[in-house]
Amino acid sequence: VGYVGPNVDGKALDVVLEGLARLEYRGYDSAGVALVTGDHVSTEKRAGKLVNLTEALASHPLPESSTGIGHTRWATHGGPTDENAHPHRGGQDGKLALIHNGIIENFHALKSGLLADGVHFLSETDTEVVAQLLAKAYEQTHDLTAAMQQVVGDLEGAFTLLAVHADQPGVVVGARRNSPLVVGLGQGENFLGSDVAAFIGYTRSALELEQDQIVTITPESATVINFDGSPAQGKQFEVTWDAAAAEKGGYPNFMAKEINEQPHAVADTLLGRTDETGRLVLDELRISEDDLRAVDKIVIIACGTAAYAGMVAKYAIEHWCRIPCEVELAHEFRYRDPVVNERTLVVAISQSGETMDTLMAVKHARELGAKVVAVCNTHGSTIPRESDAVLYTHAGPEIAVASTKAFLAQITACYILGLYLAQLRGGTYADEAQAVMKDLHEVPAKIQQVLDGLDRVREIARFMADTRSVLFLGRHVGYPVALEGALKLKELAYIHAEGFAAGELKHGPIALIEPGQPVFVIVPSPSSEHGLHGKVVSNIQEIRARGARTLVIAEDGDEDVVPFADVVIRVPQTPALLAPLVTTVPLQVFACELATAKGLDVDQPRNLAKSVTVE
Ligand code: G6P
Repeated sequence: VGYVGPNVDGKALDVVLEGLARLEYRGYDSAGVALVTGDHVSTEKRAGKLVNLTEALASHPLPESSTGIGHTRWATHGGPTDENAHPHRGGQDGKLALIHNGIIENFHALKSGLLADGVHFLSETDTEVVAQLLAKAYEQTHDLTAAMQQVVGDLEGAFTLLAVHADQPGVVVGARRNSPLVVGLGQGENFLGSDVAAFIGYTRSALELEQDQIVTITPESATVINFDGSPAQGKQFEVTWDAAAAEKGGYPNFMAKEINEQPHAVADTLLGRTDETGRLVLDELRISEDDLRAVDKIVIIACGTAAYAGMVAKYAIEHWCRIPCEVELAHEFRYRDPVVNERTLVVAISQSGETMDTLMAVKHARELGAKVVAVCNTHGSTIPRESDAVLYTHAGPEIAVASTKAFLAQITACYILGLYLAQLRGGTYADEAQAVMKDLHEVPAKIQQVLDGLDRVREIARFMADTRSVLFLGRHVGYPVALEGALKLKELAYIHAEGFAAGELKHGPIALIEPGQPVFVIVPSPSSEHGLHGKVVSNIQEIRARGARTLVIAEDGDEDVVPFADVVIRVPQTPALLAPLVTTVPLQVFACELATAKGLDVDQPRNLAKSVTVE
């Protein structure tokens, strides 16, 4: 949140805190504000929920101000501590303060340059690097907008930045690339926010910034330029949403919003994981390369949706690394007698990082001598702390109880881990890893393409609101996708749903097929190895012959499925092992839409909790 306004006692702080409260769903592991008063910038920041900040401000009030910025954080680089909370100061005099959403992909390189110049850092964040760069640029330009323009040219990745400087009271400068920022236009006051919820209590008149633009607000003006300095005009619009809808970005619920954020969740999880040559660099994986090379078995432990991400990972890791990989539900792993030792790498997947079943399994695995890597979405949570290393997914906060964007981010992170292990093996393994990374970078755009073409799926879902049972079939990586499709439907719509390995059908489940039974089939790419595609097409024929209503998810251009499909849902052509990132999406939308049609609360389904902290 950013604000500049008239000199009304304390208004900047009130506006910023109110905005942060409305934006807290975007991140809630720490919060902070910076206010400009006279020629001074004062900041306060605290780890934990916003209330920790407001309590700190109540006991140590900041000087009253009419210019301020504020931030709630969802950690990406550096844990949720007071030091890592935003704003970050820049310059020896600390006259500049900066807040940031996103990930600065090249922050390591930028930081080394600053360290060589003797700059001292107080936090582990990528943001502080930008604050210091911006302060340096300000020393040369004496103008915050010009300084911002100079710095954004050096940044790679995704960012929304807001900055204030003590020598320019009454000015807030913002910049955006691949991360949202909107301007709120008031009377004698102006606002900035990650979304309109930040200022909806004050104005409904807003200005949308385009990619790679900088905005400078004063009480009287909002001036937009492009990163190259050329003048630009934002697109003005009136906000028609109420505050609750604004939090959800105009979507009817958080789940719909989170499903639509998946291209970003995957892209952000990929950010910063490769160097200029395309080699994977996982600095955060604090297990020595020698220890990783010695690994002779991988065991993935997780619960619920995260366990299905693990199943997808098994197919990929075994193929890329030739290291045996098992997947087990964490609660089962813990209470049997698993064969695990020093050469076993245990991968614990958890969005929340708090699932007690998974945590207990992590502790057990470490007692047995295994090294544990957590794949987690929540900085500062328990499972990463109890593990040897962590690979964070960057899906952003997931509010809806049933997991969607975290699932795709978990699969992505597991791919990254698998490809990194392949790279360590060298030779052709490493070559393949680089090629797959390239393919992976194309996936976010494909997910977007799927999302853009789902009207028919929504229509079918609404039509099927009275359905009592739905089956899901898949083979290979399509099998865990089938399981996840069924789980989403159970969780959201309370409909009996089962996922099966398509090959298993003839061994029993086919007895369930009766005329009219809806069956989703996730068809592998025709380019799949070992004739897999043909096998699944035969499976569709088998159930069709027995009266099933077939809803077939197939690649663009796959015409073989058409004669046997009641409905074909198209996804873009994607390498076989990466396909779950696109084939899952229609199933999420189907479950969400069907549950909405039934009038159910999709964000908080009955009996479920977001993080289950009991065994
Ligand atoms: C709960 C949630 C699921 C989630 C599972 C694992 O059961 O309802 O959506 O998949 O926990 O959660 P985790 O935070 O460990 O990924």
